[in-house]
Formats: sequence, structure tokens, C-alpha cells
Amino acid sequence: MTAQAPILPTSTSRGSARFSSRLSLAGSRLARRPLRVALVSAVAALVVLYNLGTLATLRRDTGHLLRPLWDTPEPGFTVVPHWPRLGDDKAWCARHGWSLRRAKPVVVDAVPLAAELDMLEIRWREYAPFVDVLLVVEANATFAGTPKPLYFALQRERFEALARDAGAKLVYRALTDFERDVPPGSAANEERQREAISQLIAEERASGAIPPGALIIQSDVDEVVSRDTLRLLTTCGGLPPQLHLGLDNYLYSYDQPLRDGGDWRARVATVPAGGESMGYHHGRGGEHLLPGAGWHCSFCLPTLEDMRQKMAGYSHTDRLTSARLLGEKRLRRRVCEGRDPFGMWAEAFTFREVLAHSGPTRRRHEFLHVPAAVVEEPERFGYLLDKGCERPNK
Ligand SMILES: *[C@@H]1O[C@H](CO)[C@@H](O)[C@H](O)[C@H]1NC(C)=O
Repeated sequence: MTAQAPILPTSTSRGSARFSSRLSLAGSRLARRPLRVALVSAVAALVVLYNLGTLATLRRDTGHLLRPLWDTPEPGFTVVPHWPRLGDDKAWCARHGWSLRRAKPVVVDAVPLAAELDMLEIRWREYAPFVDVLLVVEANATFAGTPKPLYFALQRERFEALARDAGAKLVYRALTDFERDVPPGSAANEERQREAISQLIAEERASGAIPPGALIIQSDVDEVVSRDTLRLLTTCGGLPPQLHLGLDNYLYSYDQPLRDGGDWRARVATVPAGGESMGYHHGRGGEHLLPGAGWHCSFCLPTLEDMRQKMAGYSHTDRLTSARLLGEKRLRRRVCEGRDPFGMWAEAFTFREVLAHSGPTRRRHEFLHVPAAVVEEPERFGYLLDKGCERPNK
């Protein structure tokens, strides 16, 4: 310690003099070593590029791509094999390990909305024969906190007509208290929206519109449960209180399936008999999964502009590494080729799956199993069938 003390600068002026002499010394040394100059410049250029965003994609994808090293998969589900109606209802239920219900339960659809009005219509028309309460919450800001119109409120009559056709009660709430300009990747506003839905469910339970034993469908707008599945769930009783629904994944249209094993996040929850509170969730809530229960169609929006707004507005804003991803030519090419809008690798837990699930979708060229509204109006919803590539820019 004491032996080293003399090397330390004893005053600021001496310190800065020493610093500048060191700099010039380093400069003259560098000038004599071109290789070192090249290396230092290259590193400096990389640092600049990294912060400018050119390498933001690399930064984003490194963690993502190495996911098999840092993350573990969702523990497996107990799969309830899903059968068509063979024989009578009692036999149909028994095949699933369930019993015949005495009466049809009250069915509630509870959904957070951003801007996906067509998908909401498709969803509610799919549910119409079974649904009793349609509950929707939207906000006047995106998850990222930038202002947006209350799209549902602007077209309220359209959705009131759908609710009337379904014979369902419409419950709507507009949120005006989203946090502004949240940091990229923050889920604060997304959580706020789900909490608002939980609260509405509690209010409707208190009013008696949602009685014990009611089924509440909890899924994002683009996660649509099929009518056949609802028929099964309203015919049979003894379901697990939280039943996850396996949905097939699609990108841009129902013609572009992702062969990735599907999405497990949608669930149907049974309202408990006691007054226990019930949260609205999008995560894991139970052990049982009914596969083949419907469709999860991502970026299945009518125009490229709608896609841009979604890309810029949702809580994964850290994925949008460059404004170039939003250009018409580039975005359309991605849509037509069935490639990820952000140019990202698939999320998976083994390297083999990452490779297998990345890359373009393959067109299906069959529309036998798609939501009812889409086949009822194939021209209007053509962008979800065979015309996905030609959808308008705006
Ligand atoms: C949402 O509406 C409220 C009330 O009108 C307003 O105070 C707030 O600024 C709006 N939020 C945004 C992000 O525009």
C-alpha cells in the first residue's frame, strides 16, 4: 500500500497533465501499429452501430435464439383427447371423462381489445349460439402508452347488433388511465387492462348476470374458440375448473398455419360456487388442456397499416428494432411469404425446434375448419382466406 502511494496523482492538475501525456503517448504508439489502429476503429464502429440500432436486431435475437440455454419449457399438460360427437351426448361427454350437464351453463366471453374489430366480430359470431355475456375492455392508449382512438366506442352500434343477434348482454368499459410512454417491453398497461376485466367480472357476478357455474372464456381477441368446442363444453359437466384450450397457430390468415404445436394460453374457467374472487389471466392456470379447440391467428388484420400499428403499439415494442420493418414493400413481402413480421426466430426450447419452427408458413389451400363468419362471408373476409397477400396497404 504505502509503496504504491507515490504513483497516485496528488492534485487534479497533476492528474490531468498525466492523463493527457498518457493519451499522446498512446497516440504515438498507435500510429506505429496499424493493426491496433484498425482494431480500435473497428471496435469503435461496432459500438456506434450497436447503439444506432443496426445491431439492435442481433442484440434482440441473441437472447431469443439462445432461449434453449436459459429457459425451460412449460411443464407438460394433462391432455384431454378431443372427440367429435359420436353417439349421443352422454357418450360424447363420457369419452372426455365428463358427465352430461342438466342445464346449459351461462357462457361469458371476456376480452381485452386493442383495435382488432373484424376479429372481434368473427369471435362473437362464432360464439353466438352459446354466449350470454359479452364483456370487452379497451383503452385510449396502446400498451406502449401512445394515444389511440376508442375503436369499439366508434363502432359501438355494429357490436350492439351482434350482441342482440346472439341474445347476449354487452358489458363494455373504456380505460383512460394507461401509463404514458412506458419503457419497451413493459407489461404494465397490459396488466392494467386484465385487472379491469377482473373487476368487471366481479361486478357482473355481484349483479347476478354471471352466476356460479358460469363458464368464462379468457383469451385474447385473436384466440378464437370454435363453436364445436363450445358445444362440447356446454353439453358436458365436471370440467376442470381451469381448462386450457389448445389453439392452432396461424400467421396473417387461416391459410398460413404455423406448425409449432399451437397455443395453450386460452382457457375456460368455471365460476366457483362460493364468493371466491376470480382473476382474468393469460398465463398458466391449470393442468388440463383440450387440444384442437380453435384458432389463434396473429396479425390477421385487414390492412398492412393495421399491422404497422400493432407492431408499433403492443407491449413487445422491443421487437421493433428498425422503422424499416414497417415499409410497405418489405412488410408485404413478409406477409406473402408467411415470415415473421419482425424477422424474428421462433420461440422454442430446443435448438431443433427453433430451426423447425422458424422460416415461412406453408399455405394450406383448404378452408374447411375456419370460423363460421369467415366462410359465411368469404369475400369480406377474403384476407383471412386465400387473399392474404393482396390485402390493402391502408
Ligand atoms: C385518455 O382519456 C383521458 C380522459 O379523457 C385523458 O385524460 C387522457 O389523456 C387520455 N389518454 C391518452 C393517452 O390520450
